Amino acid sequence: MEKEDVILIGETGLQRKSDVIVIGAGAAGMMAAIRAGKRGRSVVVLDHARAPGEKIRISGGGRCNFTNIHAGPKNFLSANPHFCKSALARFTPADFIAMVDQHGIAWHEKTLGQLFCDDSAKDIIRMLLAEIRMAGAVLHLGTEISGVEKTEAGFRVSTSEGHYEASSLIVAAGGKSIPKMGATGFAYRLAEQFGLPVLETRPGLVPLTLDPGLLESIAPLAGIAAPAEIRHSRTGFREALLFTHRGLSGPAILQISSYWREGDEIVVAIEPDIDIAAHLKTARQLNGRQSPQTALGDILPKRLAQFLVEREKISGNMADLPDKALLRLAASAQNWAVKPSGSEGYRTAEVTLGGIDTAALDSRSMEAKAVSGLYFIGECVDVTGWLGGYNFQWAWASGFAAGECA
Ligand code: FDA
Repeated sequence: MEKEDVILIGETGLQRKSDVIVIGAGAAGMMAAIRAGKRGRSVVVLDHARAPGEKIRISGGGRCNFTNIHAGPKNFLSANPHFCKSALARFTPADFIAMVDQHGIAWHEKTLGQLFCDDSAKDIIRMLLAEIRMAGAVLHLGTEISGVEKTEAGFRVSTSEGHYEASSLIVAAGGKSIPKMGATGFAYRLAEQFGLPVLETRPGLVPLTLDPGLLESIAPLAGIAAPAEIRHSRTGFREALLFTHRGLSGPAILQISSYWREGDEIVVAIEPDIDIAAHLKTARQLNGRQSPQTALGDILPKRLAQFLVEREKISGNMADLPDKALLRLAASAQNWAVKPSGSEGYRTAEVTLGGIDTAALDSRSMEAKAVSGLYFIGECVDVTGWLGGYNFQWAWASGFAAGECA
């Protein structure tokens, strides 16, 4: 991305006193800076990265799934499911779409209300930088933060580029996912420094792994994708399932991974809209001489059909197979209980579950109840969305809420 005039990297003569300091030039931090700046507050955004919005840039396969038109409190996991309601109601997907439209960015709905840029995620970063310029805020990038203290007038942030002071401090430093991209867990440590409780964190929206024995047995399936319903207890998602060399992935698995815990079982139903048992019975009636692999291969990927028939040790032609065998074959595809051995962890997780306990924050402003002028927003807060644009919507909404009050 070209360097913008609102971005300063390691330059001298910087503005060091402002009304608001934002730590983190990601989705949430930039939105907070825009809102606070537009209210007339002087805003400095600090980030150790050398480019803003790096996760936006790589999101949605480079096209950024920037919101979901159906986003509502039900799409988020949190110890307090009511906490996100206020912020989500005051900055909605329609509000973000209006901003995108104002900047002439073309977008489309891919599926299930998920909105993507037609061209590139960089359009969203350019839009946010243009808004930051209009709001009069400034980004100081390449800035390592060494300490944060509360002062009488507000906060003092010590950095590799000197001290910064402001009456309000908004922490938007993200979670722990993708450490290679600069995720540090900084926000949690800062929350603890100020006495805010932090709930256990774990990787979310992440592929699940299988133990070596099971992995070896399903090795021939690596690369196969199929529509599926994946269930964990009473929660289920219908999206694509992908078999990989490490285990299970695809949107349906990423979704359920946020609900899954070590030791739990998930139940996989492949092609949940098809009654596979009925299909097999009809196939037996119409062409008893065909093999079960062929009959099943009409509705499932051929390699998967072959695998299931072998796994169920079914042999002979369709005409030879009793109902019991056909039902067993159908159940093998549509009622497969599997116990993942783990997840791929923060290395590939799209988000971090858990985090700063919402009980310590005001849901309207995101301000810490016990520390006046200190705000936490975005992924570091214990609010985590489903896959599909919900996490950015939380970043925009919580950023807007803090920017409105800081
Ligand atoms: P984010 O992580 O975006 O920003 C935090 C900022 O703080 C970073 O700029 C970082 O450099 C900075 N920082 C961290 N520690 C610091 C420190 N110690 N000092 C200074 N600065 C520090 N969501 C969605 O809705 N749609 C999508 O398409 C995708 N796609 C997607 C793909 C991939 C590969 C990933 C990993 C994630 C997604 N997501 C997503 C999730 C989405 O990216 C995520 O929810 C938001 O980026 C969270 O925004 P935040 O601003 O809270 O944190």
